[in-house]
Amino acid sequence: MTATRHRTSYHDALRTLSEASVDQHFDAFKDIAWDDPAYAIDPGDARWVLPRADVLGGTDWYRSLPLEEQIRVGLYRQANVTKVGLQFEQVLIAGLMNFAFTLPNGTPEFRYATHEATEECHHTQMFQEFVNRSGQDVAGAPRLFRFLAPLLPLFASRVPVGFFIGVLAGEEPIDHVQKSILRAGGDLHPLLLRIMQIHVAEEARHIGFAHQYVEHRAPRLRGYQRFVLSLAFPVIMRWLADAILVPSRGARRDMGIPRSVVRDVYWRRPESRQMLRDLFADVRMLAENAGMMNRVSRVLWKLLKIDGRPSRFRSQPSSAAA
Ligand SMILES: [Fe+2]
Ligand SMILES: [Fe+2]
Repeated sequence: MTATRHRTSYHDALRTLSEASVDQHFDAFKDIAWDDPAYAIDPGDARWVLPRADVLGGTDWYRSLPLEEQIRVGLYRQANVTKVGLQFEQVLIAGLMNFAFTLPNGTPEFRYATHEATEECHHTQMFQEFVNRSGQDVAGAPRLFRFLAPLLPLFASRVPVGFFIGVLAGEEPIDHVQKSILRAGGDLHPLLLRIMQIHVAEEARHIGFAHQYVEHRAPRLRGYQRFVLSLAFPVIMRWLADAILVPSRGARRDMGIPRSVVRDVYWRRPESRQMLRDLFADVRMLAENAGMMNRVSRVLWKLLKIDGRPSRFRSQPSSAAA
């Protein structure tokens, strides 16, 4: 594709995403009937038992707990995962503002970045409301992430390609987990189901934008910049995926997960390892397309245990990509 044609199709894609945000968007307090009795959170409700599709919910340890304990751990875990998600989104919103601040007039990214920030604000409201109503005083992400959170948005103006790689590192795993829970069906609490449906619908666009942006910008970087980022790429992916998916020390203590189970689930068991690899099939494809997969970076992807075959197209079912 010629450079001009590529630029036009990139601009068209951004316009399509922006228009989709106008056509279909959600308001945290208009589109969720929080006070509907069917949505009430009862801490004794068996629908808080984690589904088998959940990495922790699928373990023998969890399955052998008494029902009340499965419910307690299940509700805590849903609340904590939600809290981590919203903390990540807060970093993202702050980064999007820094990013938009640097954009010259007439840049197509400005409009989409602000649509995305608007949507993420609604997500943080809906996630925090869920946490509040769950009655679980959860802390969310591990300490290191919470400590670095105020600094991470600075990358958005200085190293935007790196920042959007980080965005994908957070959004891809959350989206993957939510989609597999929705796909598995089962007896999910209707409030959680509603929140996940809204989230998955809007994340598709955010993930689409981050892919478009990195794919468009990375080839325009200087060679050495692209090379450094190609090495940072898998490190960012693995670090953020762990921060989001692995319960922090405090959360493990509150849920009473034995150390051996933690080690097994994150990520020693073959099923867990496979899942970790599957999470990143789409971003491996992106790294290839953006010219950020080279001999050295490939070694890092492998060392970090997130190597594997790239998807052939976005959201390709993982069994076919693995
Ligand atoms: Fe979100
Ligand atoms: Fe998002």
